[in-house]
Amino acid sequence: MKKEVVIFGVKDTAELAHWYLTNDSEYTVVAFTVNRDYLEIQEFHGLPVVAFEDLTSIYPPSQYYLFAPMTGVRMNTLRQKVYEEGKKMGYQYISYVSSKATVCGNSIGENCFILEDNTLQPFTTIGNNVVMWSGNHIGHHGIIEDHVFFTSHVVLSGHCHVKQRAWFGVNATIRDYTVIGEGSLIGMGALVTKSTDDGGLYLGSPAKKQEKLAIEVY
Ligand SMILES: CC(C)(COP(=O)(O)OP(=O)(O)OC[C@H]1O[C@@H](n2cnc3c(N)ncnc32)[C@H](O)[C@@H]1OP(=O)(O)O)[C@@H](O)C(=O)NCCC(=O)NCCS
Repeated sequence: MKKEVVIFGVKDTAELAHWYLTNDSEYTVVAFTVNRDYLEIQEFHGLPVVAFEDLTSIYPPSQYYLFAPMTGVRMNTLRQKVYEEGKKMGYQYISYVSSKATVCGNSIGENCFILEDNTLQPFTTIGNNVVMWSGNHIGHHGIIEDHVFFTSHVVLSGHCHVKQRAWFGVNATIRDYTVIGEGSLIGMGALVTKSTDDGGLYLGSPAKKQEKLAIEVY
């Protein structure tokens, strides 16, 4: 049976979520929602756009699911805030996992957005509100905590532990048994050979910690 979902946002990521859910899921998108201050259009893709503040009265959590796939700016803190607000309002989130992703019985939390060509090897767990753009290798026996963002073609080797709100740029490579600190930013093309500090910005091959904090650049 089809299930009905409201998507948070009206920008690129929300538009992509609408496309993926419509073309590759059991869900039907019924509306979009944004905070009242950002409510500039009444309709998007032929569906109503309503204020997030009014959502529970128009699309009650008892009848509708919520999906809030957002970009990772401000080191995923905005994504985390919206996700937690929706939870407080009583919503259950869906997760989207592409039919073209390879999943090996992994435990996957809610509000995850996992696109095509991701490979999730066995015995790795994925928390809530995790984004994996296309084509990442997520190695075996790992832990991915909540609100983490993988862009594309990241190689996360086996037995890694990725803490909350970490963010990976394209083509980053992470050695096995590495711990990626909370809110760490791993720049595009970085080769991470050692565990990283919370809030650290890491660039280069081998990756070196930069003077700026991750939140200062992204
Ligand atoms: C780490 C990052 C966020 C830094 O961004 P930024 O602060 O705007 O950096 P800038 O573009 O201003 O570059 C500053 C300097 O760092 C260098 N630099 C930037 N990113 C780098 C990287 N990943 N590795 C090595 N050097 C890098 C630049 O060449 C520049 O060097 P210069 O001062 O000698 O000219 C960014 O470069 C990055 O890695 N982004 C990820 C991109 C990505 O994955 N996009 C997909 C999005 S879906």
